[in-house]
Order: sequence, then structure tokens, then C-alpha cells
Amino acid sequence: MAKKVNTGLEYNEEVINDRLSIYHTPSASGKNTFAEDIINGLKAKRKFILPKYFYDEKGSLLFEKICNTPEYYVTRTEASILKEYSDEIAECNADKRIIVELGSGSSIKTRYILNAFLRLDGNITYMPIDVSAIMIESSKRLLNEFEGLGIKGTIGEYLDALEIIEETVNEPKLIVFLGSSIGNFDLPHAEDFMKKISDCMKSGDTLLVGFDLVKDINVLNTAYNDNKGVTAEFNINLLHRINNELASRIDVSNFEHRAFFNAKESRIEMHLVSKCEQSFSLNGSGPISFKENETIHTENSYKFTGGMVMELIQKSGLTFVKKWNDANDWFGLFLIRK
Ligand code: AVJ
Repeated sequence: MAKKVNTGLEYNEEVINDRLSIYHTPSASGKNTFAEDIINGLKAKRKFILPKYFYDEKGSLLFEKICNTPEYYVTRTEASILKEYSDEIAECNADKRIIVELGSGSSIKTRYILNAFLRLDGNITYMPIDVSAIMIESSKRLLNEFEGLGIKGTIGEYLDALEIIEETVNEPKLIVFLGSSIGNFDLPHAEDFMKKISDCMKSGDTLLVGFDLVKDINVLNTAYNDNKGVTAEFNINLLHRINNELASRIDVSNFEHRAFFNAKESRIEMHLVSKCEQSFSLNGSGPISFKENETIHTENSYKFTGGMVMELIQKSGLTFVKKWNDANDWFGLFLIRK
């Protein structure tokens, strides 16, 4: 049965059992398709592909593999902070029984948080949001592991899902956004995104955000140039995805992975470098031509200082509550409230 929120957004609720239901938002009505976004990006003066397109099935698996490389400290470091401080995080949110997660993936790190909240109170509603339908399987696994947990997930885009949650949930809530995924936005867009999250919060609701912090440049560069080439494969997979989904014939071996820390912009940049002069077309796009060494910019991953985070919180009209770091100060979890 289709339901509608105030703004006109339609959604369906799929009840799987008495502990699990899934909201589905319309698949991207009025938004660009994969083909349109790819062609627009590759016809731009400075070629780019949006990083959300990394995550097809293969790309999602490769990302999990990146998280397990010794060089990619991000996931491990954030998990260690959650492991140590989840009880404290739960205590700071003792009035909350609802936990919303943006980009839940397989919810591995979230287990620390759920555990801590369930220790304080036997009942919690977890509301994961993700574009991928693997959510249903990972939710079933969570329900087997955690008694007292109910799950109301949304398969769809973050902001659509938050609209539904804002309308259907009246109890105080904690929203978590882990993994420094916020680093994919440049700073003005990060601010914009935080403001939109804020619009879906009520006074007293909180937001827990993971920020990867500025650190030794060699540690940063190595994390995105792992020895086994998993990150390179993840980057190159974009071209395989284009070939698969747009029935094109890009010669993938004509491109190579490049990732480096751009200190001036405080971000890791990932590119696909054209090793030669070449040209191809996609879905009748007309020729897309490359000079030798011309690149496709595929990702920015911002690295934050404490000051940058504080400024972002303040500019988005929210209030800093508390932060937790690892011993090296490589990663910070910031608790923010409305
Ligand atoms: C998922 C965006 C946080 O930027 O570190 C990992 C993605 N790209 N290795 C990051 C990524 C290359 C990751 N985020």
C-alpha cells in the first residue's frame, strides 16, 4: 500500500514479520539515471564520476576487502573507538530508544552501539537506511543476534528515508553516520547535508558522525594505495560497471589507478588516469576523448582537523556535545545535538 509524506514523497511499507519491516522509496523519480550521470561526467571539461557509483555488487565487496587491508586504518580505527566507548555513547543518549543509521551496509560496527543501548534498556528500534537490498538479509541476521531489537529499515536514498522517519517517528532518536562517509562531500555540500539532516531532527535528537582526521601524509597515501591493489581494483571497477551496464567497450587496461593526498584541499583524491590518447562512445553519447595522462576524478575523501569539524557543526546550526578519539587521534566520533 502506497503511503505519502507531507512533501508528497510516496513510499511502501513491506512487513516481513512482527520485528522487521522495510520501507521502500520510489526508485529515484526525477533523478538522473546511471547512464545520464556517467555521460555528463565524462563529457565535462574536467572528467568525473560520482563516488556513489562505486557500489555495485562487485564494488561493495571490494570496499569490504579494502576495509580488511592492513593499510586502510579507517574502519579498524573507528571500530576500536566504538568498542571502547559505546557504553559512554549510550549513556549520553539514555533517553533514546530509536537508532537511525545512514549507510548501514552490513552493520558490523553498529553492533557495538546496539549492544550498548540494549544493555541500558531491553528494547531498541534500529532504523537502517541503505540503497542496497542486502539490508533485508543483514537485518534478519541482526534480529537473530539481538533479542529486544526491532528493525524498521528503509531501502532508498538518505534524505528520502529521513523524511519518512521524521514523519513517522515521534520518540527521541539518535542518527549515526559512520565511516567518514561525510568526507565524500566537499565542505559546502557537507554543511548542506548536515542542515538537511538537521531538518529531520527534533530538539534534543542527536547525531553521531565519524570523521577521518588529518594525519601523517604517508599513512594517508598508503591507505589509498594498498600493496595488494584492492583500492586500485575498486577504482577500476567503475569502468567494468560502465561496460556491463551500458554495454560499452572501454578498454579498461588503458587506465590506471591514482590516489594522493592533496594537502591544500585536505583531501585524498582518486583518479583514473588514461595511459594513452583514446576515444570511445557510450549509449550514443558521441565521442568521449582522452589525452594521454588525462584523468577521471572518481572520489574526494576529506580529512578533517578538529577545527574543521567544529566549524561544520556550527555552520549547520547544530550543537557539539562530545567527541571520542583513538589514542593516535587518527579518527574522531563526534556527538552533535539539535
Ligand atoms: C566510504 C567514502 C569513507 O573515502 O575512505 C576507501 C571510500 N575509497 N578507499 C573513503 C574509499 C577508497 C571511503 N568512504
